[in-house]
Amino acid sequence: MGLLPAWRWALLLVVVASMAGWAAGRFVVEKNSLRVTSPAGLRGVYECAIGNFGMPQYGGTMHGVVVYPKANKKACKAFHEFDLSFKPKAGGLPVFLLVDRGDCYFTTKGWNAQSAGAAAVLVADDRSEPLITMDSPESSGTDYIEKITVPSALVTKKFGDDLKKALENGDMVNVLLDWRESLPHPDERVEYEFWTNSNDECGAKCDMQMNFVRNFRGTAQVLEKRGYTQFTPHYITWYCPEAFVLSKQCKSQCINHGRYCAPDPEQDFNIGYDGKDVVVQNLLQICLFKVANETRKPWVWWDYVHDFSLRCPMKEKKYSRECANGVIKSLGLDTEKINKCVGDPDADEENPVLKAEQDAQIGHGSRGDVTILPTLVVNNKQYRGKLEKSAVLKAVCSGFEETTEPDVCLSEEIQTNECLENNGGCWQDKANNFTACKDTFRGRVCECPVARGVKFVGDGYTHCEASGVGRCQINNGGCWKETKNGKTVSACSNEEAKGCKCPPGFKGDGINSCEDIDECKDKLFCQCKDCTCENTWGSYECSCGGNNMLYMREHDTCISKVASSSVGWGFLWVIFFGLALAGVGAYAVYKYRLRSYMDSEIRAIMAQYMPLENQETQNQHRPVEHADI
Ligand SMILES: *[C@@H]1O[C@H](CO)[C@@H](O)[C@H](O)[C@H]1NC(C)=O
Ligand SMILES: *[C@@H]1O[C@H](CO)[C@@H](O)[C@H](O)[C@H]1NC(C)=O
Repeated sequence: MGLLPAWRWALLLVVVASMAGWAAGRFVVEKNSLRVTSPAGLRGVYECAIGNFGMPQYGGTMHGVVVYPKANKKACKAFHEFDLSFKPKAGGLPVFLLVDRGDCYFTTKGWNAQSAGAAAVLVADDRSEPLITMDSPESSGTDYIEKITVPSALVTKKFGDDLKKALENGDMVNVLLDWRESLPHPDERVEYEFWTNSNDECGAKCDMQMNFVRNFRGTAQVLEKRGYTQFTPHYITWYCPEAFVLSKQCKSQCINHGRYCAPDPEQDFNIGYDGKDVVVQNLLQICLFKVANETRKPWVWWDYVHDFSLRCPMKEKKYSRECANGVIKSLGLDTEKINKCVGDPDADEENPVLKAEQDAQIGHGSRGDVTILPTLVVNNKQYRGKLEKSAVLKAVCSGFEETTEPDVCLSEEIQTNECLENNGGCWQDKANNFTACKDTFRGRVCECPVARGVKFVGDGYTHCEASGVGRCQINNGGCWKETKNGKTVSACSNEEAKGCKCPPGFKGDGINSCEDIDECKDKLFCQCKDCTCENTWGSYECSCGGNNMLYMREHDTCISKVASSSVGWGFLWVIFFGLALAGVGAYAVYKYRLRSYMDSEIRAIMAQYMPLENQETQNQHRPVEHADI
């Protein structure tokens, strides 16, 4: 009996499944926007399709100039063979290399463009059609794909032609690539799904999947534990067409009588593991997630998948239920519950868990059908680009409503480094190494810093100043300060939250200068008869005429040294009597006021019980509410 080659068989399964099951299915091409800022004739916003390789800058933007190469227009060969380089010169804008579709993989074009120094690659379609998603190939010998870090985008033939025409005319074509609206970012929690496969022997794609789980695990777990994300793993299965259920092929690739199938890992039915081993492991992993999720520890899935791929690889012939059980035990999960969820793979019945997975494959809302494996779905939109930690983190981070993103989103590893050049146009204090430029995955923000425990306030662009406690330690709070003859005077006060004020004895704005007040010349103090006034820095000296006179600064007056006590006491007596008199007077007034108040109060109360004799008295005592005592 002539066996269909395994890969054809797998393809047949896909084709049949897509015809039968996904008749109404659709694949959604994920897009970002491309804004041409010049030349004027091309100005506008165009759509382009995000390539499924390289690193799109989710949540961010990128400026550049479009260059169409003189030779190697399809970028199928390395550009150095043509002596072409697209590295921008110092101060120049990054180059977005426009290349033509055809003759080689999209990824090859991307890699050649990146190797030649381009910051992004724009592929012009070679036929008039709606935008498609550029995917990476499954073939071997494509290790370079992992190394592509530039973003890639497909543009329509029409737009590509327009760009080329403008370049031919000698126009400089300025473009802004914008991924800010590529993912919805409605709230403070990001829901994301990872459509994956437990198969670890499928070449570059499987390696990429495993590397991703290994590298992203820690971040994913932190995000999940803190409630920032809700993650769900998913697994794609196909069903065997009715007519083939009893065939050898379906029996080896499917479980539950042809209901759930996966392609043979080695694409050879006679050796190694069968597709059904993969389906069972997939099912086990979903069940494990469900059980872990029930105990509110959904992140254990990452540990399991990571550990399983290390401890039970196909290569070492350990890809088995027993090995899996060992991993489950070591993670302290309930094996019985998981086994119950997996059920009997040989039974001719539906498995509710896998049934739900098949239903979920079909697109809903803004999300298209999931057909590319692996696929990441963020806020119900499919992620396009390399499955790499920082690129994925950028995408997840761009799914948060702005300002609600967690710390990891602002961490160094996904920074944009826009602060390196010209300090991002933000305020800085070079002398003290303070800057308002903050790198975030969305691009830089200018925000006055908190440095050395002191908060800075201002617009962040042209102005930031220290404020609050401790502000005088930094740059003296931006205030004037001067030292003369060992005496330091400052216009900054830690008691004041902000601003500068010249201290007593000085006048001025407190920022640039404070000038000594000449108390003598301005006739402010020391105006007593026979007194001599001498101005000092910040103060003055006053001496009374005659030897036996003493200057009393508080009263700006001279008293006799000899009779100082009697004069002093006399002075006090006067004050004492004055106070006593004032006290008696005040008491009298108080008494009088109190009586009249009580009178009116009593009258008011009485008035409620009996009519007063005449209107006049009533009016006279009306304003009780306005008592002023
Ligand atoms: C995981 O648990 C959360 C809440 O406990 C629930 O909302 C969510 O639907 C669960 N996910 C799955 C796939 O069961
Ligand atoms: C300024 O601060 C940054 C980080 O805060 C540090 O990396 C850099 O070395 C500092 N530069 C100087 C001149 O102190």
